Amino acid sequence: MSSFFNRFRRYRSNQTLRDLVQDVYLRPHDLICPIFIHDKANNEAIEAMPFSLRYSLNGLFHYCEELLSNNIKTIALFPVIDQEKKTLDCSAAYDPDGLIPKTIQALKLRFPSLMIIADVALDPFQPSGQDGLLSNDGQIDNDLTLPLLSKQALCYALAGADIIAPSDMMDGRIQSIRETLDDHKLINTLILSYSVKFSSHLYGPFRHAVDSARFLGTADKKTYQMDYRSRFQVFLEAKTDELEGADFLLVKPGLHYLDIIQSISSSQDRPVWSYHVSGECSMIYYAAKENVNSLDNLLLEALFAQKRSGANKIITYFALEAARLLK
Ligand code: PBG
Repeated sequence: MSSFFNRFRRYRSNQTLRDLVQDVYLRPHDLICPIFIHDKANNEAIEAMPFSLRYSLNGLFHYCEELLSNNIKTIALFPVIDQEKKTLDCSAAYDPDGLIPKTIQALKLRFPSLMIIADVALDPFQPSGQDGLLSNDGQIDNDLTLPLLSKQALCYALAGADIIAPSDMMDGRIQSIRETLDDHKLINTLILSYSVKFSSHLYGPFRHAVDSARFLGTADKKTYQMDYRSRFQVFLEAKTDELEGADFLLVKPGLHYLDIIQSISSSQDRPVWSYHVSGECSMIYYAAKENVNSLDNLLLEALFAQKRSGANKIITYFALEAARLLK
């Protein structure tokens, strides 16, 4: 007789049993697809992000059809703005005839049930590549930025965005945006706050995709994005956004910050989402290329890790690939 009776291998002896004891699930509608759009006639490859494209309006229509038929019902739009439209006052960010509002309107006509998340931040719209306005001494001016973010959010909400997603990390922006939306009777527009956004080295491919990298140069975003060596601020950021009126809280990056997802999802009363960012997707892409394992296997393991840590939804550039695997 053996001296132990807890045989965990009993749970694992065949596939049916392993399915029976599964308690973490991933479904296509847990996934949100981030999409880059530009003002050109054709789709364009992104050198720094071989698993994604910059979409034309026509290309976007095709892509959304494919997403919807695979049960991906929510997308997050990110604009690529022409250099000559990047101005100090960021006027392209709140132009009702701008790329994002026009695209939202066109998408809503064509796909009324498609849920659209619109990113709110100034980085694609100004020559500095920073998310906030610069004051005369070159610092990012928090309070000067708030009215612009509210204008941008209002512009997108009026165009029909379902969810407004401030990713800029200015303080007080959720309250400012919520008040602006309420003032215009946009009471049903949801706010997804990038509450816990770290100053990460994993945003590189994204910055190339939206063409902010070359403007940003060697500058960083450490005065407003969070320091990954500090934990106490995490709870404060999430709590504050919740109190200011955020409907969803986002942790970003996702895969490197599973401990943060876990603590926020157990301490806050709002759904917590994870952003599987460009650099994290690149790691999987290049690991698969170097035969570490198949992209499919690496991807599912990464997505399940985020679900297991408590992420309610995951924003990932591999949403369509994953949805196909989950069929
Ligand atoms: C900026 C923004 C960034 C991302 C989304 N919105 C980059 C940054 O903060 O510089 C990164 C997303 C990714 O890497 O996939 N508002």
